Amino acid sequence: MRTPSLTASAAFQALQQHHAEAKNWQVRDLFAQDPARFDELSIEGAGLFLDYSKNIVSNQTMSLLFALARETGVEAQREAMFAGDKVNRTEQRAVLHTALRKPRSEKLLLDGKDIIPDIHAVLDRMGVFAERVRSGEWRGFDGREITDIVNIGIGGSYLGPKMTCQALRSFGHPRLVMHFVSNVDGHDLAALLPRMDPATTLFIIASKGFNTSETMTNAKSARAWFLQHANASDLPQHFVAVSTHLDLVTEFGIAAENMFPFWDWVGGRYSVWSAIGLALAISIGIDNFREFLAGAHAMDQHFQQAPLEKNLPVILALTGIWNRNFMGSTSISIAPYHQDLRLFPGYLQQLEMESNGKRVKVDGSPVEVATCPVIWGDVGTNGQHAYFQLLHQGSDLIAVDFIAALKPSHALESHQVLLLANCFAQSEAFMRGKNADEVRADMQAQGLPVDSIEQLLPHRTFPGNRPSNTILMDALTPATLGALIALYEHKVFVQGVIWGINSFDQWGVELGKLLAQNIAAELAQQAQPAQHDSSTNGLIARARAAL
Ligand code: F6P
Repeated sequence: MRTPSLTASAAFQALQQHHAEAKNWQVRDLFAQDPARFDELSIEGAGLFLDYSKNIVSNQTMSLLFALARETGVEAQREAMFAGDKVNRTEQRAVLHTALRKPRSEKLLLDGKDIIPDIHAVLDRMGVFAERVRSGEWRGFDGREITDIVNIGIGGSYLGPKMTCQALRSFGHPRLVMHFVSNVDGHDLAALLPRMDPATTLFIIASKGFNTSETMTNAKSARAWFLQHANASDLPQHFVAVSTHLDLVTEFGIAAENMFPFWDWVGGRYSVWSAIGLALAISIGIDNFREFLAGAHAMDQHFQQAPLEKNLPVILALTGIWNRNFMGSTSISIAPYHQDLRLFPGYLQQLEMESNGKRVKVDGSPVEVATCPVIWGDVGTNGQHAYFQLLHQGSDLIAVDFIAALKPSHALESHQVLLLANCFAQSEAFMRGKNADEVRADMQAQGLPVDSIEQLLPHRTFPGNRPSNTILMDALTPATLGALIALYEHKVFVQGVIWGINSFDQWGVELGKLLAQNIAAELAQQAQPAQHDSSTNGLIARARAAL
């Protein structure tokens, strides 16, 4: 089926015409003209508040963007995804991470079978296991309690568990230290193992396919290390698996009762809600894990039920489309003003860039506009002292998503006041900038000589008009974190629909994987070097000589 042209759509063309005028706007003027701008361009849902008034948009811009969402079929596609249609067309799979957060009382038929009972059966098993580890009932081979959990996985089987454990560390069990090994670089595992006591360490081998070379290499090395200190009969107390492939898990030596399954309709980067979240469930406890799911479910309901005009994920997606496809923004800097969200930008890199880093539409024809921008960032206020300079005065237009919790999970009140002050000040500065007249007046007031003023003027002028969103939550809790992640998941979905791409495959990672297999054999001297280009041949030769 042919994917309709985006640029030929009436809504897109209307936006193009509108942009001819909007590109000359200064957002500070829009604020001055409309005292109600903040009220009009901010919304609340599922425990999150979104202020999008600092984007270069008017009410009319938003109306045209909502029309674009309608014309590209966002509402119908949304229903199709939630209903379990095979919206991942290149892999002929349903996309049902949203089912993982549905309450037990609901029903969802997939190929004629209700999948909710299976989901809750696994959740119940995770709960029992997590509570046994937390309570100390689950013991290591010499009878002591587990103290360290090592999650071995990569991509979605790593980023989600690690980011969420870090984000909710204030809810973490005090005895349990969480570790995450992902990189095939032996420096990762080798640095960790000497610090672990094999008798009190539990390994979670997390891999959807259970054939990912990084994860299996690390898992085998961890098992070999363990067996240097213990017997094979001790393995079941120390190795559990999370996967969709029972056959491969048992082949590895982990029994079925120590495996937590999930399903092929859960994409890797959408899998933290499944048994892939086991590390999180152990760290924060199953009740908190259920709160995490409930927070995401609240966002699902909001996404499904709120009109587009009041819909957080839709608005986040549409302001993103406006910034990317009309204003020419090349990247989004994610700026969480919360230390515990320090891994959130990295998590979003996979979620957004692996999902929407595509150049062809579902029908295989080229996308006519730019797709996913580069996603990057770090916590505020650290970023302010590193790369915010470029955001304020650099030559690229970079959009910013500020994220903050109003109440901290510590008692250092003065820090929180300063943190939030910085967050709000940066978004104000990005928007307002400082024009030449204001800079000149400041320097005159400081008594600077006229020639210094004129010399410094261009350097001290800020163009402003840098678009940003601000997402606020009352406090960072399992529920608000769940809602926050789901907000971005649905944002990605809406943008994928508008661009006409499949957000749920990732063929781009395959080529490098295949070439690496061949080169690994050549480096291990098991195969004669193939004829690569002279650069690759030269690099292989140098490594062969050194290894
Ligand atoms: O990077 C490709 C990818 O398939 C991701 O989508 C996935 O999260 C990751 O590899 C890990 O895959 P698995 O869980 O199967 O080991």
